[in-house]
Amino acid sequence: MPLQGRRILLIIAGGIAAYKSLDLIRRLRERGARVRVIMTAAAQRFITPLAAASLSAETVYTDLFSLTEESEMGHLRLAAETDLVVVAPATADLLARMAAGRADDLAATALLATERPILVAPAMNTRMWRHAATRANLALLESRGVARIGPNAGPLAEGETGPGRMAEPLEIVAAVEQMLGVGALSGRRALVTSGPTHEAIDPVRYIANRSSGKQGHAIAAALARLGAETVLVSGPTSEPDPPGVRVVHVESARAMLAACEKALPADIAVCAAAVADWRAEPAAQKIKKKNGAPPALKLVENPDILASLSKPGNRRPRLVVGFAAETENVVEHAREKRVRKACDWILANDVSPATGTFGGDANTIHLVDEAGVEDWPPLPKREVAERLAQRIARFFAGKAAE
Ligand code: C5P
Repeated sequence: MPLQGRRILLIIAGGIAAYKSLDLIRRLRERGARVRVIMTAAAQRFITPLAAASLSAETVYTDLFSLTEESEMGHLRLAAETDLVVVAPATADLLARMAAGRADDLAATALLATERPILVAPAMNTRMWRHAATRANLALLESRGVARIGPNAGPLAEGETGPGRMAEPLEIVAAVEQMLGVGALSGRRALVTSGPTHEAIDPVRYIANRSSGKQGHAIAAALARLGAETVLVSGPTSEPDPPGVRVVHVESARAMLAACEKALPADIAVCAAAVADWRAEPAAQKIKKKNGAPPALKLVENPDILASLSKPGNRRPRLVVGFAAETENVVEHAREKRVRKACDWILANDVSPATGTFGGDANTIHLVDEAGVEDWPPLPKREVAERLAQRIARFFAGKAAE
């Protein structure tokens, strides 16, 4: 049980996402954590203290001036006797009170009094989330070291869609484990590339590869869930930034390489981006249509990010993983690519029409490493990511045991 003996103070504020916090209590406890709960007055309009008490098997604290609660456990002890404070859902109101340093109820007082790390899981309406006041409050809290998970984008309780949904309980648990340093990859640094690159032809046109970024983003999220401090260097995609990951947005292959180099040192690099192999020398002004021949594009080769990260040297990540999309002789080509690019593993993706990979959500992977080939069944991209992250964790566990 990864959280055995760890103490979590869970502060539940008043939002509809509070119902998910009941599941969060359960998830934390099944991993061995001891969970004490504070609920704000507004939270009690959504869920009852009795539900939280039943799930946590502890008294639930609600009142700053309660004689019984204070005699049982003073608010200062509540704030001190914990390894981590989790605020879920963190409403716009509670974030504002935290930023202002208010102590106007038990939740705000405990947050002001604690010297323990704080993790907030914001949940609110999209417009409240985007409001300059919320942005400023969060920036201030983050500058003071408060960690944040989410919010996720998706349908919201009021029938709207957008960022504002509280992170899922298991995502919050993963962030807790990462902060407490208990994940299988905690203490490791990971670098992931994802998405396509855009190579400018002129100020309005570009060359690109087709790539949704789904696989790379899922890998970054899976590595972060196992506790790795993860940097995702992403080309332009419509995928949302994964929770618990630092995302660097870039456009071109050269910018992607520079961002990767800046993210070093890392223990793990996974190159899942579909990098454009060539770039044009971009024209300063929009190229005009002229009568006669269309303009000639002079293409120059882009740097190979995977090969460049794999170069021997003291900055080389211990484990470098690349992808190869192939339609025939899949494993043979992957073997050759592994050697040519000097990476450790290649995830060969069988994209022959029979597999239905193109346009589909599943990938058929053959993992090629020094020892041989491992054939995976067709799996959704999220499960490919999970399986890869687990295999990476086993690789490092084996290294530690050597
Ligand atoms: O040579 P090919 O494009 O098939 O290699 C695919 C692998 O190399 C992927 O892991 C991809 O992310 C990486 N790559 C790269 N930089 C490039 C081209 C490919 O990192 N310029």
